[in-house]
Amino acid sequence: MYVSDIPEEIEGILFSEEQIKEKVAEIGKALTEEYDGKDPLFVCILKGSTVFFADLIREVKCRLEIDFFRASSYSGTKTTGSVDADESGLPDIKGRDVVLVEDIIDTARTLSRLKEIFLRHEPRSLKIVSLLDKPSRREVEGFSADYLGFEIEDLFVVGYGLDCDQQFRNLPYIGIYKP
Ligand code: IMP
Ligand code: MG
Repeated sequence: MYVSDIPEEIEGILFSEEQIKEKVAEIGKALTEEYDGKDPLFVCILKGSTVFFADLIREVKCRLEIDFFRASSYSGTKTTGSVDADESGLPDIKGRDVVLVEDIIDTARTLSRLKEIFLRHEPRSLKIVSLLDKPSRREVEGFSADYLGFEIEDLFVVGYGLDCDQQFRNLPYIGIYKP
């Protein structure tokens, strides 16, 4: 068990459960307005966005389908620079209105690579939702999410699905990781 609700590696709480809940409801409402009647396919980018995804789809009050896709680029608190994505695991997206759900945009290499892969398979439309964004870390110029939760500084954060070496995904808040 953690000694307290806050493990010692966590320097502080950036967003509380309440703040996250409010923001997720806001994004869900906007998505409902855009996708009502379109039977969209919401794709969870594994593993970081699982918690956000599970909460978000319940705030989207229209018919939708879900699927999952695996991608990774980080080791510890450092990006490896190469994006690992197995295209054979791609859902059938041809002609669909697809919504990619990601936890965080950092250099944007992951999402720009995924966007390229998904667009090659001819969805009817493709939009990106991200809970967090660190614009100061951008390496792919001009890349941004269509729907964004919070913009943050150059901090390494964990919790609410986000990890450091697979740890801390189960924290209900977003905390600042102490290196
Ligand atoms: P990008 O390709 O540099 O934009 O990296 C995006 C991916 O890196 C995210 O999907 C996360 O898995 C991971 N990542 C980036 N920043 C953080 C962070 O602060 N905490 C945890 N994971 C992060
Ligand atoms: Mg991720």
